[in-house]
Amino acid sequence: MTDPQHPETTAITAGRNYGGRSLAPPLWASTAFEMESVLDGQKQATKVKGDTFYSRYGNPTVNAFEDAVAQLEGAEAAQAFGSGMGAISSIVLAMCSSGDHVVAQRQTFSSSSLLFQMVCPRFGIDVTFVDAEDTQGFVDAVEPGRTRLVFVETPANPVIQLVDLDAIGAIQGPFTVCDSTFAGPLVTRPLEHGIDLVVHSATKSLAGHNDATLGVVAGERDLIWHVWGYHTIHGAVASPFDALNGLRGIRTLGVRTRQQCESAQRIAEFLEGHSGVARVNYPGLDSHPQRDLAKRQMKLGGGSLSFDVVGGREAGQRFVEACRLARMAPSLGGPETLVTHVATTTAANLPDEDRAAMGIGDGLIRMSIGLEHADDLVADLEQALAVASG
Ligand SMILES: Cc1ncc(COP(=O)(O)O)c(C=O)c1O
Repeated sequence: MTDPQHPETTAITAGRNYGGRSLAPPLWASTAFEMESVLDGQKQATKVKGDTFYSRYGNPTVNAFEDAVAQLEGAEAAQAFGSGMGAISSIVLAMCSSGDHVVAQRQTFSSSSLLFQMVCPRFGIDVTFVDAEDTQGFVDAVEPGRTRLVFVETPANPVIQLVDLDAIGAIQGPFTVCDSTFAGPLVTRPLEHGIDLVVHSATKSLAGHNDATLGVVAGERDLIWHVWGYHTIHGAVASPFDALNGLRGIRTLGVRTRQQCESAQRIAEFLEGHSGVARVNYPGLDSHPQRDLAKRQMKLGGGSLSFDVVGGREAGQRFVEACRLARMAPSLGGPETLVTHVATTTAANLPDEDRAAMGIGDGLIRMSIGLEHADDLVADLEQALAVASG
């Protein structure tokens, strides 16, 4: 299963089985495909992940994207979705039934949190929440015979806590799922730590250009086929155009990831030394409370960080509005550096006590580092912090 070549190279070589001699992936926009005969129709209609029957079942451009992600993650197979949340909700609903139990990390992307807090209970799926750093808590929360799924996200949105993937991967019984959106396959490969399924909002660094809304899950073929079966009913399918942009983005994943991580390290160090910043959350800093774990399971520090601006909510809001180069927008992993004031954007729908439990302070800023020159970004942050301090 382990890919002997470097992931930067795999990003170039993978997903080329559907393009003939074309260097770029062709766009198969068709929603349906002609059958040669009744027998052929029967064959296409009953083939798992068939790509020449009906595009909700499978599509050549989408399959090419899936192949590339599977190879990058060292997986047997992958399944694409119309968004990261399409992937996450499909996995949970494909694997869990009424009466089942899920162990979920408390600090996850806000819509994942809402899925576990509000949707799962409606379907009779019990959820126990565990803090990211509480490794033993995940193990202890598993109820043998009843826990179906353990769901983690690392680095976690938006306070950048880490989860010990070796410990989660060693849990026996339930399926283990890791949202690796903030890391990406050049930083962490969860399947190598024993995790069963790795999921991404490919909207972020995999597609990498803010022009595709896309999700993907990778793992063993049998599991992916099971998820595929549910996905054809759930219908949160990836559009071929987004899959094309996803695969186009993957081609440059290597250089983009390296540059973004290098700039993120520089910016994290700058912020840490600034009097207008109370705390910086970045796994590449020695001050990160889980720095040893970061060294064990992350090859690079990642392209996202967060920090608390001194002065709380008003200062945080002044800061994001004062940024000139960094843009105020709610995503990550693209070429543009983005900032958000977390409490009023991605966490705005969470109750105050949940925000506090997740470590989201009033002045917390989430920052996704883009591809601008790091010197220009530091200059922008410096002037915005001056405005924030009033
Ligand atoms: C860590 C993480 N997981 C999942 C998602 C959901 O992805 P999408 O917006 O593609 O549905 C996001 C979106 O920001 C995210 O940051």
